[in-house]
Amino acid sequence: MTRKLTIFLIAAVMAVAFMGAVAISFADVPETITIDKAQNKKPPVVFPHAAHAKDNDCTVCHHKDEGKEEKRSCFECHGKDENIPDPSVMSAKENPFHILCRECHKEKGQGPTKCNECHKE
Ligand code: HEC
Ligand code: HEC
Ligand code: HEC
Ligand code: HEC
Repeated sequence: MTRKLTIFLIAAVMAVAFMGAVAISFADVPETITIDKAQNKKPPVVFPHAAHAKDNDCTVCHHKDEGKEEKRSCFECHGKDENIPDPSVMSAKENPFHILCRECHKEKGQGPTKCNECHKE
């Protein structure tokens, strides 16, 4: 084996080990989440999750997981019961993401409020 290849292999192993460590320490708060359940209708929304989790209490969004270590996916409930705001309706007032995300951005005058600022092609 050449010296160069050996160095390359060591570097590759270290890179993988490092990525593993990072993945573990941030496991509880995903960095970015692509919300794409409706991608057949609108481009997926790339959500900077960790930045929002730094600025807000988890339960602002994970509103049914107060005091719980675990944070569940919105889709575990939303879209499964007619009494819960349905993520598959296109409405500013009824889609849970439009209510939560867009309303806060409007209120704060910060963050995207126009369709194609969230649903980027
Ligand atoms: C602040 C971000 C944000 C803005 C602004 C926004 N949306 Fe969305 N929208 C979302 C998210 C998140 C979802 C859930 C996406 C998914 O499940 O793929 C969604 C879902 C949708 C859906 C799928 C629901 C359905 O009908 O099945 C449509 C259509 C949609 N949005 C249209 C729009 C339109 C039109 C606008 C502008 C009037 C808009 N959105 C503005 C974040 C946003
Ligand atoms: C501004 C809203 C918001 C805040 C604040 C927030 N989250 Fe999230 N989080 C989301 C959304 C939206 C998802 C995507 C859920 C989905 O795909 O159904 C998510 C997903 C997650 C997931 C993955 C859940 C799964 O199984 O799909 C975890 C874990 C998580 N968040 C933890 C946290 C923790 C811990 C905090 C606080 C430190 C936090 N979140 C703060 C909105 C938020
Ligand atoms: C364990 C089930 C469950 C989970 C998980 C859940 N929700 Fe909900 N959500 C509900 C129920 C039930 C309602 C109806 C009103 C209520 O009971 O709070 C609701 C209502 C809402 C509303 C409407 C509030 C209003 O003012 O009308 C929004 C917005 C919302 N959820 C967003 C989310 C988002 C975003 C997530 C994921 C980060 C999420 N929910 C996760 C069950 C859930
Ligand atoms: C409680 C308030 C609040 C909620 C809820 C919220 N946001 Fe935001 N969001 C903000 C603020 C404030 C900013 C501007 C932060 C900044 O630029 O530093 C922002 C910025 C953003 C940006 C732009 C980031 C950038 O780098 O330009 C995106 C995309 C975004 N939000 C998507 C979402 C989505 C999708 C949701 C719902 C799942 C959501 N937000 C829920 C407050 C909120």
